[in-house]
Amino acid sequence: MTSFLPLVTLVCLLFYFAQANDQDNNIVHGSCKRAADGDPNISYEFCVACFEADRMSQPANVEDLALISINLTISNATKVSSCISKLLQNKTLDHFARDCLTTCLELYSDAYSTLRGVVDDLGSRDYYKANVDVSAAMDAAVTCEDGFKEREGLVSPLTKENDMFFQLNAISLAFIKMLH
Ligand SMILES: *[C@@H]1O[C@H](CO)[C@@H](O)[C@H](O)[C@H]1NC(C)=O
Ligand SMILES: *[C@@H]1O[C@H](CO)[C@@H](O)[C@H](O)[C@H]1NC(C)=O
Ligand SMILES: *[C@@H]1O[C@H](CO)[C@@H](O)[C@H](O)[C@H]1NC(C)=O
Ligand SMILES: *[C@@H]1O[C@H](CO)[C@@H](O)[C@H](O)[C@H]1NC(C)=O
Repeated sequence: MTSFLPLVTLVCLLFYFAQANDQDNNIVHGSCKRAADGDPNISYEFCVACFEADRMSQPANVEDLALISINLTISNATKVSSCISKLLQNKTLDHFARDCLTTCLELYSDAYSTLRGVVDDLGSRDYYKANVDVSAAMDAAVTCEDGFKEREGLVSPLTKENDMFFQLNAISLAFIKMLH
């Protein structure tokens, strides 16, 4: 009988963790579903994958999700900026491509600062300003990508990055709207 006890304890513990995990998942899955249903630009799978990749986060509600989403977007802006800096090291770029990349770097640097401000917006529950700021950050991706379209034959080397940054901001916007 006594050898049975550790097993029972283990099963209880497993059950406890499975349930705790399930609750996190429900918040993520439910909120991502609402976000995707409300905006054709948001992929449910992408949304869920973003939050499940962040194992440190324990979202309890939509407010947490909004903050985590902003944090993910801030770190993505940093990654895109360093990607652009690397592209700019290419000595054989023509003037137009170099100008486009330089503009993108400025756009992403501004977006980074703007998004840092959104953390404070959310802290003071100023959802109106948070919405305006995230929309402005999102525009960086569109403006950057459009720059390359202005000359025929030029292919944006940042399409994947711009799409992803756009989508991350779309997810933040959806969560901010749910908080309104
Ligand atoms: C989806 O993205 C496009 C730009 O790619 C934008 O014009 C449109 O307003 C977005 N839709 C929603 C619901 O936000
Ligand atoms: C967001 O990032 C800030 C600064 O890095 C950190 O203090 C905060 O805990 C993060 N919030 C969430 C919800 O991940
Ligand atoms: C963020 O940016 C990097 C570099 O542009 C990209 O490879 C990565 O997949 C992006 N997405 C996320 C969710 O961090
Ligand atoms: C540098 O730029 C040229 C011209 O756009 C391109 O053909 C080449 O692949 C680039 N080199 C690297 C290492 O990205």
